[in-house]
Amino acid sequence: MLVENQCPLQALNTFGIAARAQQLVRIADESDVRAVLDDPELRDRPKFVLGGGSNIVLTGDVKALVLKVEVAGRRLVGETPRHWIIEAGAGENWHDLVAWTLDQGWPGLENLALIPGTVGASPVQNIGAYGVELQDCFDSLDAVDLESGRIFVLDSAQCAFSYRDSIFKHAAAMGLQGRRGLGLAGRALILRVRLALPKAWKPVLGYADIERRMALEGAVVSDVTPRRVFDWVCDIRRHKLPDPAVLGNAGSFFKNPSVTPEQCADIIARDPKVVHYPMPDGSIKLAAGWMIDACGWKGKTVGRAGVYERQALVLVNRGTMQQPCTGGEIMTLAKAIQTSVYERFGIRLEPEPVVV
Ligand code: EPU
Repeated sequence: MLVENQCPLQALNTFGIAARAQQLVRIADESDVRAVLDDPELRDRPKFVLGGGSNIVLTGDVKALVLKVEVAGRRLVGETPRHWIIEAGAGENWHDLVAWTLDQGWPGLENLALIPGTVGASPVQNIGAYGVELQDCFDSLDAVDLESGRIFVLDSAQCAFSYRDSIFKHAAAMGLQGRRGLGLAGRALILRVRLALPKAWKPVLGYADIERRMALEGAVVSDVTPRRVFDWVCDIRRHKLPDPAVLGNAGSFFKNPSVTPEQCADIIARDPKVVHYPMPDGSIKLAAGWMIDACGWKGKTVGRAGVYERQALVLVNRGTMQQPCTGGEIMTLAKAIQTSVYERFGIRLEPEPVVV
């Protein structure tokens, strides 16, 4: 086991924030976790699990021991009458996995193309895009308990998935919003994820951006192939969202808030154009990007943190490689946005990334 001291994290987070890990250990498999837990100096240290760094804001150097997940491998591990079961190491790149499954003839992930980050991070925030969420194709995962070293398996119900949320985002004494059981934030390191991809593929085309693309190309449902959906999604994302390799960002910075129909009617009475979607459970989801845009934030810059000019839900690093924005600048901008959205709409926006 190699412990890297004062390890730079700028290239390991998609915002490109310059911070250091006091100590970092790369985890290629469970034996590396065991080595950490057997080490008397490292065993009891607080630990921070780092995947692709695509959903974090670093507000300073990380004092906890950083475990950088690099578990590799992708393979078909089984099948049921209706599904192919694919397993991937937590350190695999998510988009590469999506492309590989398509190449192998196992479609189902195409709507989730180009989401930055690793396979291991995908269940943590239940990644989602264009009408599909990870939970729709999730089978199970293997994780290791960072206190006991025990390896355990969780199925979909045990992961407690909901919109951009799972058991991995909640601390041990969870009990929030009527949820029972223990949260696993800081407690578990995901090693491998298994996905169940349908043998009888059906495209998911209901999202407005995809419908527009179909209309533009005059495509009918029977013409649609998984590859075509993949290409559309890649194209839409490349047009709307900044490439973290070019402009640092962490995707959507806020979650789309959920309100009651009464609250929504109240907002519509004042702002008839507010973009909103009725949800199956009777609640209404509001487009946070629309609200931030309506407050005039799109394209604005405060210090070295900015609001992307094509999608107001995305905050970006407007600094340079030598002088990148800080996590503090991102959070100052985020708070200013939260205040204006609250003052105008009475809605408290909740950040999506984990603030470290
Ligand atoms: N809108 C504006 N102005 C803006 C941004 C959005 O008016 O600056 C409007 C759009 O015109 C549209 C509505 O708001 O009517 C929703 O926008 P969009 O379709 O771009 O989707 P979103 O709700 O902003 C969500 C996810 C994205 C995901 C897309 C597509 C969240 C927090 N974000 O964005 O996920 O790619 O839908 O499914 O749910 C991510 O999580 O990092 C992410 C990029």
